[in-house]
Amino acid sequence: MSLITVVSGPENRPLFFLRGAASTYAFGVHPAGLLCHLHWGGPLAPDAALAERYESGGIPFGPELVRIPPFGGRAPLDLLRMEYPTANTGDFREPAVDVLHADGTRGLRLIYVGHRVVAGKPALPGLPATYVESADEAETLEIELRDAREDAPGEPALCVEATLRYTVFAGRDVVVRSARVSNRGARAVTVLRAASASVDFTPRRLDLLTLPGAWARERWVERAPLRAGLHESASRRGASSHQAHPFFALLEPTADEARGEVHGFSLVYSGNHRGGVEVTQTSQARAFLGINPDGFAWRLEPGESFQAPEVVLAYSAEGLGGLSAQYHRLYRERLVRGAWRDRERPVLINNWEATYFNFDADKLAAIARTAGELGIELFVLDDGWFGKRNDDTTSLGDWVVDRKKLPDGLGDLGRRIEAEGLRFGLWFEPEMISADSDLYRAHPDWCLHIPGRDRTEVRQQLVLDFSRREVVEGVYAQVAKILREAPVGYVKWDMNRHLTEVASASLPPERQGEVSHRHILGVYAFAERLAGEFPDLLIEGCSGGGGRYDPGMLHYTPQFWCSDNTDAIARLRIQHGTSIVYPPCTMGAHVSAVPNHQVHRSTPMRTRGDVALAGQFGFELDLTKLDAADLAEAKDLAAQAKATRHLLRHGDLHRLQDPHTGNLTAWMLVSPERDEAVVTVVLSLAEPNWRLPALRLRGLDPGARYRCVHGPAGEWRGDVLLCIGLPLDELKQDFQSLRWHLKRV
Ligand code: GLA
Repeated sequence: MSLITVVSGPENRPLFFLRGAASTYAFGVHPAGLLCHLHWGGPLAPDAALAERYESGGIPFGPELVRIPPFGGRAPLDLLRMEYPTANTGDFREPAVDVLHADGTRGLRLIYVGHRVVAGKPALPGLPATYVESADEAETLEIELRDAREDAPGEPALCVEATLRYTVFAGRDVVVRSARVSNRGARAVTVLRAASASVDFTPRRLDLLTLPGAWARERWVERAPLRAGLHESASRRGASSHQAHPFFALLEPTADEARGEVHGFSLVYSGNHRGGVEVTQTSQARAFLGINPDGFAWRLEPGESFQAPEVVLAYSAEGLGGLSAQYHRLYRERLVRGAWRDRERPVLINNWEATYFNFDADKLAAIARTAGELGIELFVLDDGWFGKRNDDTTSLGDWVVDRKKLPDGLGDLGRRIEAEGLRFGLWFEPEMISADSDLYRAHPDWCLHIPGRDRTEVRQQLVLDFSRREVVEGVYAQVAKILREAPVGYVKWDMNRHLTEVASASLPPERQGEVSHRHILGVYAFAERLAGEFPDLLIEGCSGGGGRYDPGMLHYTPQFWCSDNTDAIARLRIQHGTSIVYPPCTMGAHVSAVPNHQVHRSTPMRTRGDVALAGQFGFELDLTKLDAADLAEAKDLAAQAKATRHLLRHGDLHRLQDPHTGNLTAWMLVSPERDEAVVTVVLSLAEPNWRLPALRLRGLDPGARYRCVHGPAGEWRGDVLLCIGLPLDELKQDFQSLRWHLKRV
């Protein structure tokens, strides 16, 4: 296997060709020693002659680098397509990296020093990352760059290096990039920014697709043509956030779900991020993604390094659907990890919307009894079981069972649930603290705060300072004690506010710019410990719904509560947008009561069920209040979840109709063998005097026959389903759904 080819060009300057399944990423060393981009797109054969294809010439009023020993040549700094652009040395576009030196000057000029290719993919210590299980799954290229600066005679050396890492996986069209900045000089420097990746495109027209949102409205799809200037998507909230998702894609304007070139950027990180595109005077697009430099300053003593998180670049010439397929496969196979990665996940019932804070052991056991009768496999006790938590004003940080609600403790409740045939799961919010808590009274300095300033509250709570090891350890000890003592098989890990007054009582003034990243490293350290001690625990991530649904958290939490909005119709856009990057098996989706608690809409049980079946299925309502018809429907839904969950784990998703652009939503999942599929169709609003056209399917075997084994009866030839489609005549009413489970005859 040779995924990475290094070609020696003129004057032994190397060119690098990273080969994907149907794509190539290529770059090399320019005559002036700079690392320059050549190509990211369709397959391109390695060729030394491409060394002639770096930009040359220059434009009026443009800066030009004339020569750097030992390299010669002229470099049009405003035009060159750079692999890792620097600040304050002639490239006026968006820099990837910037450093404040001990002498107060800023900037770098990074020159190629050397490279090495290694089999597999080295880990990123302390950070979540994609991985390999054997060295032949991938190859990694490491490029060493050094700042070209001569030291003043008699002064201590100033020397900064950057190491760029590129991993290509066999059989995939992804390149995983990351960057490390090291201080090799004799005095401290401060890293002001260190993006994970930057890519310069040749001049062309492109659309930018982003996934912005809000609480209960996560990851809506927005697409618009790029214009001159800067377009960014950034979070300063200390979390990846509901508002700005750490992902974007660039599409050729004619690209759609199934056709056209699409380039994706996805950051494996859960804190402040900034990504975007700058379209320059010559219509080049520079795309970048990494930790948000705003508020960030990382001090490096001599010999220290800063490791930026990784960004997953994916490419497809088969439209947005092709791009999603790249992300889905990689993320479910080599980002999510642990015992639950390949296991079918349990059908669950969560008590939050059923009871909120108002429950006791008998109420929970009654729900569990009905759940057991319906075939539900896991009971999740949500917020309100600890401290004195009868509302959201108190007790975060006091992870001790509330004996008023549960007099016989969690162990007893867990056993009662297990007696009904269900596993037991529990909600935690480990990073948070209520001002009204024993923990806060004991450690008022354990939260993020600035001395002398008011502490901004969100949902009456403060954020623990996870940049401090003793804080992480203190909370871990409490959580682990519960998990050791009660029969808990699942944890819902919540995080219900963003970070303000970002400062740490334990860091010196010159390191306060490190707090938000150190906090996230603390979150990851907590997750690592949990996974290490409780390898069989299934963890579902959550942050006020899908506020921290990102690749960083998915590394530790194989599924994520997609949104606090449980309305089936609102969920269509949320789940559709989420599926651009994330596989359906990561998407927590529950059937809740009507009228819906977030939008007050009433939809049929079947529709709520069909939409939830498109993700990791569960219920979140008081089952003891359902009538006989709804109970029968719920039982059938639970059975369907089990009958089709292998498709959720391994199937390929096709988005057939987009809820952002019309009244109809349609998705399908097809098994890798093409012998089985589920098709979900939802009509949001019916129209008079209007007939729905048949729905053309994708991904099926044209030579096969398929029979519907659950859903509207019928049997069709694959080619007919692909070319003519599935009849939608039965779909007539507002909020109505249909779901076919097709099997090859
Ligand atoms: C957040 C979660 C909900 C629920 C509540 C409990 O809002 O997203 O699912 O767990 O917290 O307080």
